[in-house]
Amino acid sequence: MTAMLGILVVAVFLETVSATSLGVVYTEGGMVEGENIHIGSGHYMDVFKGVPFADIPGRFEKPKRHPGWDGILKATEYGKECLQVNSFVNGTSGSEDCLYLNIWVPHGSIVSSDLPVMVWIYGGGFMIGNSMGFYLDTNLYSGQQIAERGNVVVVTLAYRVGTLGFLSTGDSSLLGNYGLWDQQAAIAWVHRNIRSFGGDPDNITIFGESAGGASVSFQTLTPHNKGLIKRAISESGVALCNWAVNRNPRSVAEEIALRVNCPTDHNMASCLKMTDPEQLTMAGVFDQTSSPDDPMIYKMYLVPVIDGDFLPDEPSNLFHNAADIDYMAGVNDMDGFTFTTDDVPSINSDQVDTPIGDVKRLLVSYTKDKGAAGSENAYFTYTSTWETNPSQKTIKKTVAEIGTDYIFLVPTQAALYLHAAKATTKHTYSYLFSEPNNLAGSFYPSWMGADHFDEVQYVFGRPFTKMTEFLPQHLDLSGYMIAYWTNFAKTGDPNEGGLEVPVRWPKFTSTGQQYLELHHDMDQSSVKEKMRLRFVHFWTSILPNLPSVFSE
Ligand SMILES: *[C@@H]1O[C@H](CO)[C@@H](O)[C@H](O)[C@H]1NC(C)=O
Ligand SMILES: *[C@@H]1O[C@H](CO)[C@@H](O)[C@H](O)[C@H]1NC(C)=O
Repeated sequence: MTAMLGILVVAVFLETVSATSLGVVYTEGGMVEGENIHIGSGHYMDVFKGVPFADIPGRFEKPKRHPGWDGILKATEYGKECLQVNSFVNGTSGSEDCLYLNIWVPHGSIVSSDLPVMVWIYGGGFMIGNSMGFYLDTNLYSGQQIAERGNVVVVTLAYRVGTLGFLSTGDSSLLGNYGLWDQQAAIAWVHRNIRSFGGDPDNITIFGESAGGASVSFQTLTPHNKGLIKRAISESGVALCNWAVNRNPRSVAEEIALRVNCPTDHNMASCLKMTDPEQLTMAGVFDQTSSPDDPMIYKMYLVPVIDGDFLPDEPSNLFHNAADIDYMAGVNDMDGFTFTTDDVPSINSDQVDTPIGDVKRLLVSYTKDKGAAGSENAYFTYTSTWETNPSQKTIKKTVAEIGTDYIFLVPTQAALYLHAAKATTKHTYSYLFSEPNNLAGSFYPSWMGADHFDEVQYVFGRPFTKMTEFLPQHLDLSGYMIAYWTNFAKTGDPNEGGLEVPVRWPKFTSTGQQYLELHHDMDQSSVKEKMRLRFVHFWTSILPNLPSVFSE
């Protein structure tokens, strides 16, 4: 018994002395202590959860520096998510006290220093989301797999969403973009403090998906991040997406003011500031019923605005600010499926036919300001390759393709072209993620590809932590994506940086618009060019050159 205890004590002692750890870390606000975890064969990881990067924000105000704390802050629990509507849309969750970030630092036999840093910005339509990523039974946005496999520091930040993050009166009384300022404050905090966590402040890559992908794009376009960001990855969302900017925020602010019994005159801003934050959050929920005549994608109201400060101009005029940043962007091949299914539910049904008229109605909505000439051109563009009597599969798939193009794919191509044109000394990379959703052929139709959000679990290495839910080929794919992403974070080139990749990913240039198709079975044929050129040309050249039917 005593002998056994002795062995135990020795074992525990050995574990303690051999664990590599940063221990207590000094930050600008005070000391923090995370948790050290053993990740196998002499490898350890320090995990810090709930590190404050700013003070509790004033309502509708930019974030402020944290005043600091005495003693050692235990950073072992995620912070509360920012106040938002819950998933039943019958109440709220979270808190206004939400500006915290999380950090994963991998170590080998010695404590790490100067590792490249990857900062994740979550999506959720600027309405919901949090830095932990509750997904089924795991924290999807845990940085552990990326940090461990890619040998990078991973940070996940938080930002205000919904009314509290994005309400704008369209004038100087409440400028808006509070959520974008939160993201910026977190990036600046990482730049100032990450060296103490073993990170290299001159090697910061930001990455994000959907509204987070658009946020990444905004952070590269604002003049307020000069010198802070080295590289950026936008997954399924860029600043050029029509849903990412509200050009008439005043009417939304007035509607919310009416709902919370505030006046809409010059007293509106001061009244809104005094209103209960949960009430404000619930007042930011708008009717979400949609149809092909009234598509879902036009129902995002609390989003970034051109405020003259964070965004001094239209995003398309700000790409010079991203000229010193390497940029990677891409979409999923059925990114628009979820959204067009709201507008045309029959596309996800074997039983219900989708009338050809629904294709027309959706295109009429998407081309509204160009009148009949716009929708007729669009209809011709999408149906000219149809067989004489198009099958239901052809019609349904076309609806999903129209949504994918309009909502994600075309604006992403436009952003890549602009980046390639402006950032001549930096690299641009384009991808199309096409691994079919696991439920293709059951919950989804047999022709289903990759839906919105599908790539995120591969980027975060979920197949490695939930092996029973995936096939071996999915582990391969996840490994490829972590390799491309972390190589890019290290060197600005997804092919170089220590992790082996299945095929060389060529740069996207203005003259040869090459891209990589990401899929479990990749070879040289995965390198393609001119993604959906005919459709990109229609939305970016033909349609804008038609006369508008509404006067400016
Ligand atoms: C919201 O809806 C859920 C599910 O219907 C229910 O369990 C919960 O009690 C409701 N909460 C409120 C505040 O009404
Ligand atoms: C970034 O990190 C990579 C990999 O650790 C390193 O080779 C490079 O020199 C670092 N610095 C810059 C500025 O790229």
